[in-house]
Amino acid sequence: MRITNEQNDIASVLVSEEEIRARVAEIGAALTEEYQDKMPLVVCVLKGASFFYTDLCRAMKCHLFMDFIAVSSYGAEARSSGVVRIIKDLDTSITGRHVIIVEDIIDSGLTLKHLTELLSSRKPLSIKTVSLLDKQARHDPELAADVTGFNIPDEFVVGYGLDYASFYRNLPYIGVLKREAYEN
Ligand code: PRP
Repeated sequence: MRITNEQNDIASVLVSEEEIRARVAEIGAALTEEYQDKMPLVVCVLKGASFFYTDLCRAMKCHLFMDFIAVSSYGAEARSSGVVRIIKDLDTSITGRHVIIVEDIIDSGLTLKHLTELLSSRKPLSIKTVSLLDKQARHDPELAADVTGFNIPDEFVVGYGLDYASFYRNLPYIGVLKREAYEN
């Protein structure tokens, strides 16, 4: 096991704790307004979205339900085939309900696209997608989430839920990983 201080592997902070807090509060306020009387089911896509999800739910000042889904991480070829394999499904039915899907990052955009298609087939009243981060340069504009926290450059980012080899998720900010941290 490598003994390291995670902070030493970070080249720069891309989005600070303060910036995250402020943006989460903004998005939470907008969703509060929109969903005041709708009792939405807010869905966390495990594991990357976990910190954003819990902070966002706390920033929503309305009745809501929480549920969690985990999908498989396929290689690019399998992802583009249009398949999302459910590792852990939602505990509750979404038919006739307002659903908000919460993601940490849109990279190729295919995970969110396929997940949205899958959940749409269950006949919810509505689906809104929210992603903390978006690497716009990596995908077709139409694959962006309905709500984006921050558009970011195509850098190797970790922290606030995002990992590299399961590490760095617990960093409180979004940082750019040093090249030597993933090339060695
Ligand atoms: C990451 C992220 C998104 C997806 C984005 O999940 O959380 O779900 O990849 O990539 P895409 O836009 O190219 O589809 P990952 O499979 O790494 O799992 P994790 O959330 O458990 O880290």
